[in-house]
Amino acid sequence: MNENKQAPGVYSVPKEWAERAYIDSERYAAMYAASIADPKGFWGEHGKRIHWFKPYGTVKNTSFEPGKVSIKWFEDGTTNVSHNCVDRHLPERGDQIAIIGVRDDPKDDAVRITYRELHAHVMKWANVLQSQGVRKGDNVTLYLPTIPEAAYAMLACARIGAVHSAVSTGLSPDKLGSRIADAASTVVVTADQGPRGGRNNPMKANVDAALDKLPGVVTSVIVVKRTGAPVEMLQGRDHYYDELAMTVPDECPPVEMNAEDPLFLLYTSGSTGKPKGVVHTTGGYLVYAAMTHQYVFDYHVGDIHWCTAELGWITGHSYIVYGPLANGATTLIFEGTPTYPSMSRYWDVIDKHKVSLFYTAPTAIRSLMGSGEDAVKSNSLASLRLLGSVGEPIDPKTWEWYHRVVGGGRCPIVDTWFQTETGGILITPLPGATKLKPGSVGTPFFGVRPELVDEAGDVLDGVENGNLVIADSWPGQMRTLYRDHERFEQEYFSLYPGKYFTGDGARRDADGYYSITGRVDDVINVSGHRIGTAEVESALVAHASVSEAAVVGYPHEIKGQGIYAYVTLIDGEAAADELRKELVSWVRKEIGPIFTIDKVQFALGLPKTTSGKIIRRILRKIAEDKCTEFGDSSTLSNPTVVDHLIDNRLNRK
Ligand code: WTA
Repeated sequence: MNENKQAPGVYSVPKEWAERAYIDSERYAAMYAASIADPKGFWGEHGKRIHWFKPYGTVKNTSFEPGKVSIKWFEDGTTNVSHNCVDRHLPERGDQIAIIGVRDDPKDDAVRITYRELHAHVMKWANVLQSQGVRKGDNVTLYLPTIPEAAYAMLACARIGAVHSAVSTGLSPDKLGSRIADAASTVVVTADQGPRGGRNNPMKANVDAALDKLPGVVTSVIVVKRTGAPVEMLQGRDHYYDELAMTVPDECPPVEMNAEDPLFLLYTSGSTGKPKGVVHTTGGYLVYAAMTHQYVFDYHVGDIHWCTAELGWITGHSYIVYGPLANGATTLIFEGTPTYPSMSRYWDVIDKHKVSLFYTAPTAIRSLMGSGEDAVKSNSLASLRLLGSVGEPIDPKTWEWYHRVVGGGRCPIVDTWFQTETGGILITPLPGATKLKPGSVGTPFFGVRPELVDEAGDVLDGVENGNLVIADSWPGQMRTLYRDHERFEQEYFSLYPGKYFTGDGARRDADGYYSITGRVDDVINVSGHRIGTAEVESALVAHASVSEAAVVGYPHEIKGQGIYAYVTLIDGEAAADELRKELVSWVRKEIGPIFTIDKVQFALGLPKTTSGKIIRRILRKIAEDKCTEFGDSSTLSNPTVVDHLIDNRLNRK
């Protein structure tokens, strides 16, 4: 065990991995250099990994120039994502399992869907969507549990050229409603209920609540019977999928799509209150998702790939559905949670379904680590070959545990860095090529040009800490923000003109390996889920007792970051514990249960500059219990407020 440990905290590439993996260190160096020296030649070649109805002539046509940001890949080619993920595999692997659907309750049998069955489901779904008026270019909102039907619906949209907009089930009816409204979806797909962790999420009821506030927008709600519980069905608007399916034909050919036609919208949080509709398109996205899936996970035929993300997040899109299925893989879709019905649920699923590639988030590992090694060791986990981590920084202690206890010391860990906006993984180890350093996300994938810059935008060379930017486009990059290209340019290309700004800080070591230090904007990462502080603040001030609120993140043992809210009350109301609880549940209701505030501190006032701007730097330090490290406070207009905040701080070591 651990025989590849080179120096403290460094693991060299195991010999058998260097031999069997697609990419070893020499190949990585050569391919990476080629991808940077000649992106058009490189991607022109690798673009061929998917099937094109009409081959592309132009490979790359991209500009990061301020005022003229435009990103196009393979722009004159035509293809169809559903054809590539399904039909294309039929001759060779029609009888192979495409999807294993594992339900929340371990007593329920898993469903095993072959590529041939997937084909039939997707065509049926496509016809059902069309029967509800969905046409090429229309946006369809999907609010579904992580079940095979969600993948059918996504692929069905792609088949007919509709654009799906998946919304996480952890978000509130209000947030769902604002996403439906922004996308102007006339059709919403949901389930009666969504079992998760032993509880039934009232999904249809949530849709009803969202639509109550949006009269006239949605003309059809398609309901998957997941539990069969009775739900209210509005005559004329709501239909059970099963009943619609009986009325439509079985066959539905894929529509020829331009490479730059949109494939999906995915809303994510930014540093202002309004969520951003990230737009991904067809050709470049699929090439990038498929290629990263193959090389990062070193996917080979026969591997069972399990990514534990929810389908409603980018990781679910790229590494449960599109990447694996484009490669003809078997992908496991899991509805449940890591801790239900016991702390060994993940490990039970791995053994039962012989999972070989396992991809999860640090927060899940940390929540399981606490229950000790026995919960893991009651399973063999012998099928595992490779482990992955995504969504937030993984601390070395958690990394070592994951490697030693889950991976038995023999499975490389790929700590993959990416974002909703990047479509696929940008910085990552490759298991046959890269040494592993716990806490480091390794080196850039092919075609990716990371740079570190200082506040002034000057590029930093060598061993450095800085803001992470990407100097040139890659095929999986987002193309725009839905109906807001100006905000797209403003948020991502204005601070460091000519470069894509990630919003993350990073460190580069002497080997050129990157470590992500966290967000440098007003975004908090809670259990791998992004939320803008402004979004939480506006939910808080919507409460009748709240006058002002400021929200910051602080280090949290399980969640990575916790949410710390400073609240001032109207009329100096008594700051009772009662109210504290009420505010926490208020925000859960407003935004969704995944974003539960951890600490509410009542304040006399908030630290502000003389021009009235809240000084968050001070609030972050108080939340971290580092009250002596405020730095320059000369612009502080109200020092007594800070003394009160320090005296009443809630995190004390
Ligand atoms: C963070 C999730 C450290 C980062 C794929 C990024 C990470 C944000 C890692 C994107 C990682 C993602 N190590 N931090 N391996 N992966 N992040 O859009 O701050 O939900 O900007 O996409 O998660 O979150 P998003």
